[in-house]
Amino acid sequence: MNSLPTLYTERLIIRPISLLDADDMYEYAKTPLVGPTAGWAPHTSIQETISIIKAMMTIKTPYELGVWAIVLKTNNKMIGTIELYNYYYHFKAELGYSVNPSYWGKGYATEAAQTVIAYGFEFLNLKRIEVGTFIDNFQSQRVCEKLGFIKEGIARNGYVRYDGKIFDKLIFGMTNKEYAQIYKKERMNIV
Ligand SMILES: CC(C)(COP(=O)(O)OP(=O)(O)OC[C@H]1O[C@@H](n2cnc3c(N)ncnc32)[C@H](O)[C@@H]1OP(=O)(O)O)[C@@H](O)C(=O)NCCC(=O)NCCS
Repeated sequence: MNSLPTLYTERLIIRPISLLDADDMYEYAKTPLVGPTAGWAPHTSIQETISIIKAMMTIKTPYELGVWAIVLKTNNKMIGTIELYNYYYHFKAELGYSVNPSYWGKGYATEAAQTVIAYGFEFLNLKRIEVGTFIDNFQSQRVCEKLGFIKEGIARNGYVRYDGKIFDKLIFGMTNKEYAQIYKKERMNIV
């Protein structure tokens, strides 16, 4: 079991993933639009989705925190996942996210990521969060840009996909100091 907290944003509930999410997850995980762009193979059956959720709910190493489901407040529908992985205590983690294509372009990934980034810097005391994208994943790169990540460079042959193919990886990073500048200033404006 993971012990992730539930986080709330204006439109979303970000809560630990559950087996009850299997149908909603399979709805998008079976399409070729989501997994391959994020580095995982499309799911071929609901049984596979259930096994994958079970694995997501089981923390096996100190470098895992668990996976959150992104859920719409309006109808409780699970529309994606978000996680901090390759986690090093009080140091750094990588941010990953996926959203059901029926809900793309509405700002949901950005909204979910903002609160997860806040959790990472403010509660986990991280000094760095990074995102790695395929070179042609312009949607994810735009999400990084909107979140305030800095495009740091390309790790050549830096990513091996589920099918063994090797790709360059574009790396975006944010430090705790940058987070404080971007987000605390915004929060002060709201108060
Ligand atoms: C990446 C992903 C999570 C984004 O989810 P989302 O909820 O649509 O994200 P947002 O709505 O917050 O932002 C998407 C932005 O990309 C923009 N965008 C969409 N297609 C684009 C393209 N081809 N080129 C450039 N920008 C594009 C959108 O217009 C939007 O920017 P805007 O708000 O300035 O208009 C979603 O596309 C996805 O699940 N992709 C497959 C999995 C994946 O790639 N995960 C990330 C791995 S690094």
